[in-house]
Amino acid sequence: MPSYMRPIIAALAAVPYTAAQTFTKCNPLNTTCPPDPGLANYTFHTDFTTGDSAFDYWNTTSGSVNSTQQGAAFVINKQGDSPTIQTDFYFFFGHVDVRMKVASGTGIISSIVFLSDDLDEIDWEGIGTYNYEIETNYFGKDNTTSYARATYPNVTTPCDEFHIYSIDWTHEQIQWFVDGDLKRTLAYEDALNGQNFPQTPMVLRLGIWAGGDPSAGEGTVEWAGGETDFSDAPFTMYVESVNITNYYPAESYTYGDTTGAYASIVKSNSSSTSNSSETASTKKNGTTTLDTNSASYTGSNTSSSAASANSSVATSTAGSVVAGLTMSPVAVMSAAVLYLFM
Ligand SMILES: *[C@@H]1O[C@H](CO)[C@@H](O)[C@H](O)[C@H]1NC(C)=O
Ligand SMILES: *[C@@H]1O[C@H](CO)[C@@H](O)[C@H](O)[C@H]1NC(C)=O
Ligand SMILES: *[C@@H]1O[C@H](CO)[C@@H](O)[C@H](O)[C@H]1NC(C)=O
Ligand SMILES: *[C@@H]1O[C@H](CO)[C@@H](O)[C@H](O)[C@H]1NC(C)=O
Ligand SMILES: *[C@@H]1O[C@H](CO)[C@@H](O)[C@H](O)[C@H]1NC(C)=O
Ligand SMILES: *[C@@H]1O[C@H](CO)[C@@H](O)[C@H](O)[C@H]1NC(C)=O
Ligand SMILES: *[C@@H]1O[C@H](CO)[C@@H](O)[C@H](O)[C@H]1NC(C)=O
Ligand SMILES: *[C@@H]1O[C@H](CO)[C@@H](O)[C@H](O)[C@H]1NC(C)=O
Ligand SMILES: *[C@@H]1O[C@H](CO)[C@@H](O)[C@H](O)[C@H]1NC(C)=O
Ligand SMILES: *[C@@H]1O[C@H](CO)[C@@H](O)[C@H](O)[C@H]1NC(C)=O
Ligand SMILES: *[C@@H]1O[C@H](CO)[C@@H](O)[C@H](O)[C@H]1NC(C)=O
Ligand SMILES: *[C@@H]1O[C@H](CO)[C@@H](O)[C@H](O)[C@H]1NC(C)=O
Repeated sequence: MPSYMRPIIAALAAVPYTAAQTFTKCNPLNTTCPPDPGLANYTFHTDFTTGDSAFDYWNTTSGSVNSTQQGAAFVINKQGDSPTIQTDFYFFFGHVDVRMKVASGTGIISSIVFLSDDLDEIDWEGIGTYNYEIETNYFGKDNTTSYARATYPNVTTPCDEFHIYSIDWTHEQIQWFVDGDLKRTLAYEDALNGQNFPQTPMVLRLGIWAGGDPSAGEGTVEWAGGETDFSDAPFTMYVESVNITNYYPAESYTYGDTTGAYASIVKSNSSSTSNSSETASTKKNGTTTLDTNSASYTGSNTSSSAASANSSVATSTAGSVVAGLTMSPVAVMSAAVLYLFM
C-alpha cells in the first residue's frame, strides 16, 4: 500500500493510550473516588540525565526506566515490554514541555500522554514506522469512537533527533506545539461541544509500547504501520527533560460529582491565587478567575483571538474522508476501499 494512504487508516484506527494498558482504576463518573494527589507548585521540572533522583516525583507503572546521558531510557527488549512512568501527582490545566527522541522501529509507539481518572486523554504519539511525523490525539471520558480526531504534523526525523513536544491545555482550548511551532488547536466547543473535551485533572504518563505486537489487534497493528519484528530489539525512546506548569496548583483534586466537567473539580489547599492567568503561552489575554474556597470555577468571557478560537487540523487530509466512520476493522477496510475508488 502506498504510504500516502496511511493517514486515512491511521485516523480510523487511532487508539487511546489506555488500549495498551490494563486499567483497574476508580472511575469518578461511576462512583466516589479518593482525592487525587495534586501538584501544589506552579511549576515542576525534571532533568532525566541526572540519575536516580530524577525519578523522585515519578511512579513507574510498568517495567523499569533508567537515567542515561541522553535522558530517561524507555527500552523494549522483547515482546510484552512497555516500560512506563507517570507523575506521582495530578495537575489541572497546564503547559507541558517534553524533550523526546522517538524510538525507531516498525509498530513501536513512543507516547506522551495526559490521562485522567475518568479517561480524558491528550496525546503525542511517535510511531517508529514513520520517521517524518508525529501524531496528536485526544479523547474525552473514554469515548473512543474515532471520528478522525488524530492529526499527523510533519516533524524532522523524530526518531533521530530530540524535539520539544508541548501541549498547552486550558478550559477553552488545547494547543500542540513542536519546538514552539503551533501544530494544532482544538477549541472546547469543537470537541462535541465540550463533551469530548479533556477537562479533568491529569497525570503525565511517558512510555513506549508495541502497537505492532501481533496480539494488539488488526486495527492497532495497521495504525502502528505494521507488525513489530522483535528480533530488531532493543527499541529505545529517550526523554531528556520535562517541564510542567500547573495552572491550578493544589494539594489535591476531588471530583465533586459524576459529570466529569471541569467546573465540578474541587481543589484542596489550592494556591492558585498566585496565578490566575491560565494561558501564559497562548498570548490570549483572558482573565480566568478561580474561587479557591469552593468548587466553583468561572472562566470569564475572554475575547480570544480569531486564530486561537479556531480548531485547525495541521496536516491530516483524512478528516473529510473518514467523517462519520468508526474504528471497527470493517470501517478500516471500508476506508481503504473508499480510498481506492477516489
Ligand atoms: C459504570 O458502571 C457500569 C455498570 O457497572 C459499567 O457498565 C460502565 O461501563 C461504567 N462506566 C464507566 C465510565 O466506568
Ligand atoms: C515544590 O517546591 C518546593 C520548594 O521549592 C520543592 O522543595 C519541592 O520539591 C517542589 N515539589 C515538586 C513536586 O517539585
Ligand atoms: C535499570 O537499572 C536497574 C538497576 O540498576 C536494572 O536492574 C534494570 O535492568 C535497568 N533497566 C533497564 C531497562 O536497563
Ligand atoms: C504514586 O505512588 C504512590 C505510592 O504508591 C501513591 O501513593 C501515589 O498515589 C501514586 N501517584 C499517582 C498519581 O498514581
Ligand atoms: C525545561 O526548563 C529548563 C530550565 O529552564 C530548560 O533547561 C529545559 O530545556 C526545559 N525543558 C523542556 C523540555 O522544555
Ligand atoms: C462519542 O463521540 C462521538 C464523536 O466522536 C459522538 O458522536 C458520540 O455521541 C460520543 N458518545 C458519547 C457517549 O458521548
Ligand atoms: C509533510 O511532508 C510531506 C512529505 O514530505 C509533504 O508532502 C507535505 O506537504 C508536508 N506537509 C506539510 C504541512 O508541510
Ligand atoms: C491545608 O493547609 C493547612 C495549613 O497549611 C494544613 O493544616 C492542612 O493539613 C492542609 N490540608 C490538606 C488537605 O492538605
Ligand atoms: C504567573 O504566571 C506568569 C506568566 O506565566 C509567570 O511569569 C509568573 O511567574 C507566575 N507567577 C507565579 C507565582 O508562579
Ligand atoms: C492584558 O490585560 C491586562 C489587564 O486587563 C492589561 O493590563 C494588559 O496590557 C493586557 N495585555 C495585552 C498584551 O493585551
Ligand atoms: C461571550 O461572548 C460572546 C461573543 O462575544 C457572546 O455571544 C456571549 O453571550 C458571551 N457570553 C457570556 C456568558 O457573556
Ligand atoms: C474559523 O475561522 C474562520 C475565519 O475566522 C471562520 O470563518 C470559521 O467559521 C472558523 N471556524 C470555526 C469552526 O470556528
